[in-house]
Amino acid sequence: MLHHQEIAALKNTCSLLRFAMAGFAIAAIAGFSSARAQQASQTSPGKVSAPPPILLGDAWYPEQWPESRWPADLNLMRKAHIHMVRVGEFAWSRMEPAEGQYDFDWLEKAIDEAGVRGIYTVLGTPTAAPPAWLTQKYPETLRMSKDGRLAEHGNRQQSNWDNARYRELARDIAGRMAQRFGHNPYVIGWQIDNEYDQVSFDLQTRIDFQRWLKNYYGTLDNLNTRWTTAYWSQTYSNWDQIPIETESGNPGLLLSWKRFVSDTWRSYQKNQLDAIRQYADPRQFITTNMMGWFDGYDHYVVAKDLDLASWDDYIGEGHLNAYRNGATDDLTRGFKRKNFWIMETQPGHVNWASINNDLDKGEVRAMAWHNIGHGADTISYWQWRSALNGQEQYHGTLVGPDGTPVPLYAEVAQVGREFEKAGPVLAGTSPKSQVAILHTYPSFWAIDWQRHNKDYDPIEELLSYYQPLHDIAQSIDIVQPTAPLSQYKLVVAPGLNVLSDAAAKNLIAYVRSGGHLVLGQRAAMKNSDNALQIERQPGPLADLLGGRVEAYYALLKPVPVEGQFGNDTSQLWAELLRVEKPDVKVLERYGGSNGWLNGKPAAITRKFGKGRITYMGAWLDEAGMARAAAWMASVSNVKPAFGPVPKGVEVDPRYGSDHSVFILVNLSKATQTIPLPAKMEDVLNGGETHSVTLPNYGVAVLSQANK
Ligand code: GAL
Repeated sequence: MLHHQEIAALKNTCSLLRFAMAGFAIAAIAGFSSARAQQASQTSPGKVSAPPPILLGDAWYPEQWPESRWPADLNLMRKAHIHMVRVGEFAWSRMEPAEGQYDFDWLEKAIDEAGVRGIYTVLGTPTAAPPAWLTQKYPETLRMSKDGRLAEHGNRQQSNWDNARYRELARDIAGRMAQRFGHNPYVIGWQIDNEYDQVSFDLQTRIDFQRWLKNYYGTLDNLNTRWTTAYWSQTYSNWDQIPIETESGNPGLLLSWKRFVSDTWRSYQKNQLDAIRQYADPRQFITTNMMGWFDGYDHYVVAKDLDLASWDDYIGEGHLNAYRNGATDDLTRGFKRKNFWIMETQPGHVNWASINNDLDKGEVRAMAWHNIGHGADTISYWQWRSALNGQEQYHGTLVGPDGTPVPLYAEVAQVGREFEKAGPVLAGTSPKSQVAILHTYPSFWAIDWQRHNKDYDPIEELLSYYQPLHDIAQSIDIVQPTAPLSQYKLVVAPGLNVLSDAAAKNLIAYVRSGGHLVLGQRAAMKNSDNALQIERQPGPLADLLGGRVEAYYALLKPVPVEGQFGNDTSQLWAELLRVEKPDVKVLERYGGSNGWLNGKPAAITRKFGKGRITYMGAWLDEAGMARAAAWMASVSNVKPAFGPVPKGVEVDPRYGSDHSVFILVNLSKATQTIPLPAKMEDVLNGGETHSVTLPNYGVAVLSQANK
């Protein structure tokens, strides 16, 4: 429990003064005893101000430590300008030590102790780690692996996401947490479960899948036709004959299973979400922590019911790859088409990669700012301090097992200071792009199930367009093809293999009204049942294109391509294109290779309506892609958001109603001087400037009034 003197001491710290000056004073701090905080948490949420716009946070597990230790940890966090803790997501056995016996007092105390220090809480529901008594009493809640084995207690995620009993228990604990904390002024949001991943293959799940199929397809005749089950005598005469396939079954069945898995995660989540919403203040957001390119479910489906998207950004082995990581941010931003959170990221190193190397000195800070540049509003480290025992003893932390700072702590504290400083300027700003890359999970899965060339990785395909286009436009949105597209000058669809009718309609309307649509290789080969489009590629877009894909070839070695983009090669894959309308322009042709491709079109373009459509049949090498991207940008009038920057320097724009913010991060080894396109305010260092000089991992945050 905090005493009045301690609170007064807190009030006098520099950080709080700065915090107050920045306009986010925590009204509750003045003379606020823990008891009063407790009272406020139950009665008057209005007394605590909104959290800072840009938050630094960490995962904190008070249940692993004696209460007497909490103030020391929280004081150290406060010193590092940390304003958010994520708490509770694995603490079921502390919240409900025996069935029906609840203990939330310790959690309330932890939340309040943090809150009076200006540290807000995101509460995790603990359903990724059910307690041992639960597993013992309700073994039917355990998930079953494909080979029929039941999971056991001792790790996490042992429960079955489809199981009715487990959902009942999950709803109960989530609802009780919300009854207790739904009005707590320090609780700003909720995380449901933790990293949805494991599914179950038990009999009931199979029955539920068959029910789902009945609901989706209506009749067996319809399903049989759309899956072409006449093939290999797959025809079903009863719903209960339909198996679960996850890798090599009928493509319609494979895609249906993934859709069922996605819908089941959504309903698993909704079960808890409704329980929380019943009691929680609307100001408390609800999210879950996703995993970047993880493709276990359709993230657009699961994100529908959430207020906010967030993801866990781990590099593992190696260093920050700004393109790959930035694209993952942009992907996550696309789930709700607004700013997102980094709910977990590595403080230096992880414990699960092949080599758990540390990020370089300065790289953690650079990575934090890189993520803010891509639209993150919170960076939260996993974790504050290692549990003394448990599976993750070697993972990076901000303090050691003795509770004193590790070397990285100072760098993270610098990030915290900077977030406080830049927060008011970044508040209300978000990235806005002229270029969109289209992404769907069905396309992704469809290619991955039938790569045709073992090295054909759909993420790499997407990145091969993302990288050169990001160099030019300096900002890219990644969205679904059914998203509103009229704001974009250029829309690129690499590997949009499965094209739904709704997506096709949206794309056609986009081109007609003046957009430039670029279809990347393997586009529009399948319909939404993962069946081949009867018109061949690109299916319903062939008319618009005035051409089609005549044949595709998996390549043993790169083949030459030449034309508009110079002399390049196509790697892994080559599509032979056919021109069908006189106004189609051939951009590129294949050179001598397998005979079939020799001299044939590799990329074509056509003006249509007020816009343009282009088809890239070749997967160009890096230099070729750079030239192709330059052409795409130039015919679409895409301009850099900021202006030229040296190679290795990333620039990320965020726009507000009256000003724009540009975040520059130098990821090259050399010191770089970057002339600015206009005089700008240097947010971190103060003053106005025409240029900035950044060492390796240096960061600048620049602000400019909108014209
Ligand atoms: C995440 C997980 C955390 C922690 C972390 C370690 O996947 O959500 O609880 O285990 O990995 O890197």
